[in-house]
Amino acid sequence: MFSCRIGAVLSLRGTTLALALASALGATPLLAREMPEAGTAAAVKKPNVVILATGGTIAGAGADAANSATYTAAKVPVDKLIAAVPQMSTIANVRGEQVFQIASESFTDAQLVQLAKRVSQLLKQDDVDGVVVTHGTDTLEETSFFLDLVVKSDKPIVVVGSMRPSTAISADGALNLLDAVTVAASKESVGKGVTVTMNDYIQSGRDVNKRTNVVPSAFYSQWGPLGMVVEGKTYFFRSLAKRHNMTSEFDIDQIDSLPLVGIVYGSGNMIPGVYDAEVQAGAKAIVNGGTGNGSVPGYLVEKLKDIRAKGTIVIRSSRVPDGFVLRNAEQPDDTYDWVVAHDLNPAKAKILAAVALTKTSDTKDLQRIFWEY
Ligand code: DGL
Repeated sequence: MFSCRIGAVLSLRGTTLALALASALGATPLLAREMPEAGTAAAVKKPNVVILATGGTIAGAGADAANSATYTAAKVPVDKLIAAVPQMSTIANVRGEQVFQIASESFTDAQLVQLAKRVSQLLKQDDVDGVVVTHGTDTLEETSFFLDLVVKSDKPIVVVGSMRPSTAISADGALNLLDAVTVAASKESVGKGVTVTMNDYIQSGRDVNKRTNVVPSAFYSQWGPLGMVVEGKTYFFRSLAKRHNMTSEFDIDQIDSLPLVGIVYGSGNMIPGVYDAEVQAGAKAIVNGGTGNGSVPGYLVEKLKDIRAKGTIVIRSSRVPDGFVLRNAEQPDDTYDWVVAHDLNPAKAKILAAVALTKTSDTKDLQRIFWEY
């Protein structure tokens, strides 16, 4: 009873008070038996986290502290990013690699594959416990989904960016990066899929997308975040329901390039020739970011049926950010042999389509994949 009371005080009041109380009462505090001698291997045993830097605003610099939106992305090298957040060293042993130094709107499929292969290679190493990827926010949602689909590891992979450059008043990059290392170093993150730490939230790499183009709270998941990071601690409240990483049928070690996939943004008075141009450019699939529930204008139905008949996969997504495209609702997908993107926005549907096409072009199999990932 006595030791359990001390145990209760330990958990309630923090360790200093409990240790003082315990020694005053002549008890051997539970904590003293558990805490390793300072400086021993156990005391300094921290997870090893590698930061792969690719550029973006988190590495951006502006001329004036009042400029939160006018700056140059992809300037600050990874060692300076790490040096700017010394608190990381209390959480993990951190080292950095500069994979790219680009604004993320410039990412190519070849660079996505190269990045994923490096993440996979590092996570196979016993001396790497987690990986953080610093990244521009413009296409962060595509990269985080891609890594979620193809990296065969349960170890934490955290993608992080910032909405303001480090030179701006109330810059968000330093805390986002500290949170990312916290999540990457946390055992609770194992098996949770690729995560994104922005603005204190832990978002799923599959679900998250950038909803606002200039504020720190820009990132949002319609199915909600997975949890939060507060003062160096991770709090998870849910897990991803979809297949990912170790439960994925895809493996970056078996992918050297991605098939080309096009996107067309739905609007009024569309231009039919855009679809032909994408097919002629080599697109194996076209994601139609339609209006509403993935609607296709009457004057385009024959065009999409024709490109399908000639072998290009047609995937109905929606320009509407929330909800999901219902199969056979706005269009008879069974009749036209089209695929629906479910809840994935056009950018994410393009990523999944490209990954899926490395294995199959059977539309029934593709539709299964869009249900399951
Ligand atoms: N050029 C954009 C990018 O690299 C800046 C936005 C950002 O990183 O937050 O994604």
